[in-house]
Amino acid sequence: MNFSMLFNRKVIFGAGSIAKLNHEIPGLLEGRMRGGGILLVISRSVSRSDKYLEFRESLCKGGSDSPETETGPRVDCAGEEIVSGEPSPETVDRITARYSDKKIDLVVGIGGGSVMDAGKAVSAMLPLVGGAEAKGEAVSGAEGEAVRGTAVKGSSAGGAAGGAGHGVTSGISVRDYLEGVGRQKPPGIKIPYVAIPTTSGTGSEATKNAVITERGRNGFKKSLRHDSYVPEMAIIDPEFMLSCPRNVTAASGMDTVSQLLESYISTKANPLTEALALEGLKLASQSLPRLCNDSPGDMELRGKMALASYISGITLANAGLGTVHGIAGPLGGIFDIPHGVACANLLPGVLETTIEKLKAEAPESPLLVKLGSLGFLFARGREVSIEASETIKGRYEVFKGLRLLVESLEEWLDSLGIPPLSSFGISIADVDIIAEKSGNKNNPISLSREEIALVIKKRL
Ligand SMILES: [Fe+2]
Repeated sequence: MNFSMLFNRKVIFGAGSIAKLNHEIPGLLEGRMRGGGILLVISRSVSRSDKYLEFRESLCKGGSDSPETETGPRVDCAGEEIVSGEPSPETVDRITARYSDKKIDLVVGIGGGSVMDAGKAVSAMLPLVGGAEAKGEAVSGAEGEAVRGTAVKGSSAGGAAGGAGHGVTSGISVRDYLEGVGRQKPPGIKIPYVAIPTTSGTGSEATKNAVITERGRNGFKKSLRHDSYVPEMAIIDPEFMLSCPRNVTAASGMDTVSQLLESYISTKANPLTEALALEGLKLASQSLPRLCNDSPGDMELRGKMALASYISGITLANAGLGTVHGIAGPLGGIFDIPHGVACANLLPGVLETTIEKLKAEAPESPLLVKLGSLGFLFARGREVSIEASETIKGRYEVFKGLRLLVESLEEWLDSLGIPPLSSFGISIADVDIIAEKSGNKNNPISLSREEIALVIKKRL
C-alpha cells in the first residue's frame, strides 16, 4: 500500500472562528510581513454581511486587533475584490494585473467555491506576473521549481480594471497554466492563502486546485493545480452559512455528497480517504435534507454540513473523483448551470449505471458492499428495517442497499427542489456533444459515451 496525503497547514473550525484570523497572521507569514497588505477576495453577498464588515474592520489597519509583530509593521488591507459567478481566466488575470505592482503579503478568499477558487488562483498568479515574488515578498510553495515567465508590464493600470481586453498587462495569463488548456506547468510558488467558505459545497478550502471556467460552445472548466496550492489555512465558520439560501444549500450540499461518494469508491482511494469520506457521508446524510426542509437556522446542522464539505475537499484532493464530475466539467463549460445542480442531476444515474456494470463485470467487488451499506445510511427515515449500515451482510441485503441508495438520491432531488438540466437550456440536441467531451476520471468502472448520454437524457 502506497499513498500520500495533502492537508492544510492549519484548519480552524467552529462558530465565530473567523475572529481568530487576526492572531494567526504572524505565524502564517512566519515573520515575513514586510508592510505589504492583505488582498481580500469576496463574493457580493459577503461584502454586504455585517459579520464580514466587522471582521474587515478588526483585520485592517486601525482595527483594535490588527496583527503586529516586533519584526514588522501591521498588515494593512491592500484591497478588496468582489467576484461574481465562476471565475473565468479574464477575472483572474484582471485581479492579478491590478495588484501585480503592490506588496501583497496574504490573500484571503471568503465566499462559495467560485470565490475561494478565484482567490486561490490569484494567490498563485501574483508572483508570476511580477508581484511579490519579484520583490522578494512573502512567497510560499515550491520556490525551487519556480519557472518565471517574462513579465512585460503594460502601460495602463486601467487595463487591469477591465478596459483592456483580457486584463493581462504582464503577458502572462492563468490560461497558460490550466490543465489541458495551457502549455505551462504551474511552478507552485504563491502568496500564502487563507480560504474561508460561506457555503457547504466544493471543499475548495482543502483542495490543491482552482477551477477556472470559460463558457461557450468550446467552453471549459479546467483546473490550475499544484500540491502547494492547498490553502495554508482554512477557517470554517458555520455562522457564515446561516444565511445561505435554500437552493444554494441544496445544490452545494449535493456537490459535497457527490464528491464524498465519488472519492469513497475512487480507484485512487486509500484507507484514510475512505474513512474520512464515510464520516462525511454520515454527516451529510443526517443533515442536508433537514437543513433544506426543516431547520435552515440550525447551527449544529450547518456545522455538520460544513464539516462534510471540508472533508469532501480533503478526499477529492487525495483520492480524486468519478464520472459525475467527469460529465459536470464539460457540461458546466458549455452551459451556465450551477456546479452543484449539475452534479445532483447526474449522481443517481451515474451511480446506478456504475452499480449495474460492477454487478455484471465484477460481481465480487467489495465496492458493491460499500455502496450497499451506504443505501441504508441514506434511506434512514424511510422506514427501512435495517438500522445500522455496518450490519449489512449477504447478497440480498447488499442488493437491497444498492437499490435504496439510488432511490434515496433520486428522492433527494425532488425533496431538495433540484431543477432538471432542461431548466438551464440543455436539450436533447446537446446530449451527444456533452457526452463526447465527458470522461470517467477515477470512477471504479468506465461508462461508455452511450451510457453517459443516457444518464444525461434521463434528467433533461
Ligand atoms: Fe464538485
